[in-house]
Amino acid sequence: MTQQRKPIVIANWKLNGGLDLICTSVASFIGKHFEAQIVICPPYIYMRDMMTFLQYSELQIGSQNVSKFKSGAYTGETSAQMLKQAGCALCLIGHSERRAMFAENNPGCRTKVQLALNHGLLPVLCIGETKEEREAGTAKEVIFTQLSEGLLDIDLTDKDICIAYEPVWAIGTGLAATPDMVQEIHRFIRDKLEALYNPTVAQRVRIVYGGSVNKTNAKELLNQEDIDGLLVGGASLDPDHFLEICKQANNVAQV
Ligand code: PGA
Repeated sequence: MTQQRKPIVIANWKLNGGLDLICTSVASFIGKHFEAQIVICPPYIYMRDMMTFLQYSELQIGSQNVSKFKSGAYTGETSAQMLKQAGCALCLIGHSERRAMFAENNPGCRTKVQLALNHGLLPVLCIGETKEEREAGTAKEVIFTQLSEGLLDIDLTDKDICIAYEPVWAIGTGLAATPDMVQEIHRFIRDKLEALYNPTVAQRVRIVYGGSVNKTNAKELLNQEDIDGLLVGGASLDPDHFLEICKQANNVAQV
């Protein structure tokens, strides 16, 4: 990563965790200063509980999802406005598990990105190829389609977004992409952002990597020029392990 972009580490708890994990996670961050931005995305139901502890730490809360609707008769949904009011800093959009299991598609992600921006949330648009797509040599094509359709007509002149590159084959498998592989794709994404927008936007947008990140591979990933942070699933469920990853992001930020 480069100095001009603040590193960000995002914990995605998915459908895991509970009050115990909230207490131990927040406790390990109390009184510690971080140059990197650290965000935990717990299940919705725990956001409020987590928020009550946050005054004692620099941790922020994020959401794992956001509704593509503003309001109305959409049972079970949570809007961007509600997330903002609840104190969320960001929301994940189009995680591969949502694309695969909840029929999320690029136009729907685009709507969510716009709503998040409208309500002052940082959208974290998740993109990445499957194993089959990588093996077929179409990874970049798939990534470009997800990027360009997910950001179609989104004005980023004075708005911030974050892109999460998460190759599906690396998520939850223990088989992280190598730093070189990730750097190549991140550079590709930044080049495409430059083509879709301009050099200023391309240099400003943070591109984070997710997929079997742990305390052993985090440092080398973060040392790559175009890797601006990490999206951590499994390893974020162990507070000590997650803290270790955050410290590594902090060290990179201080260099
Ligand atoms: P993982 O999950 O770190 O467990 O691979 C990452 C993610 O799905 O965001």
